[in-house]
Amino acid sequence: MTIKYRDDIIWHKHAIGRKEREKLNNHQSGVLWFTGLSGSGKSTIASKLERVLYKKKISTYLLDGDNVRHGLCRDLSFTKKDRKENIRRVAEVVKLMVDSGLLVLTAFISPYRKDRKNIRNIIGCNNFFEIFVDTPIHICEKRDPKGLYKKSRLNLLNNFTGIGSDYEIPNKPDIYLSGQDSFFKIINDILYILKRKKFL
Ligand code: ADX
Repeated sequence: MTIKYRDDIIWHKHAIGRKEREKLNNHQSGVLWFTGLSGSGKSTIASKLERVLYKKKISTYLLDGDNVRHGLCRDLSFTKKDRKENIRRVAEVVKLMVDSGLLVLTAFISPYRKDRKNIRNIIGCNNFFEIFVDTPIHICEKRDPKGLYKKSRLNLLNNFTGIGSDYEIPNKPDIYLSGQDSFFKIINDILYILKRKKFL
């Protein structure tokens, strides 16, 4: 994409900044970026965690792949190029939300290392946690909550992650979760790490 008028677009610094909004909210803003296969449990874990954070009076927002693809990214497919654009758009939205003082939770497969690396560059935020929900594909396939693994095995779905398309495992996630542990353990593990890193 060529941006013709980039030189004529100048960043406007507004009166209220992230620090002030964080102060108003009484907590830091940041990102909890969940990555893992479809059916690994990302959205469910993020949703349960959001409920716990709500009770702690933390202002959050949860973005997830299926929902975002109903609107902002409805024009994108599951090719490598479109997934890259999907993640780029989401990262730009998250960047704004972090600036608005929120703790943002995201649940996207985000299968490629390069794209995940780019998220940090875009957001440029110190409170960024990459959370790998490690659930083996045979378990995800057994769960198959949306029937998409079955569809993919029947060749009715192209580029399905783990079957027709790669998932590159994070080498050094900030938080590692076994997607087969109980939700109770998973949520407590996340909270423990966030506290240890002095985020909460
Ligand atoms: S990503 O790869 O670009 O990060 P994203 O998280 O937005 O993917 O969307 C994944 C969701 O879209 C899955 O949970 C699944 O419900 C649905 N989906 C539909 N087709 C595919 C496909 N070919 N590969 C992966 N997920 C798919």
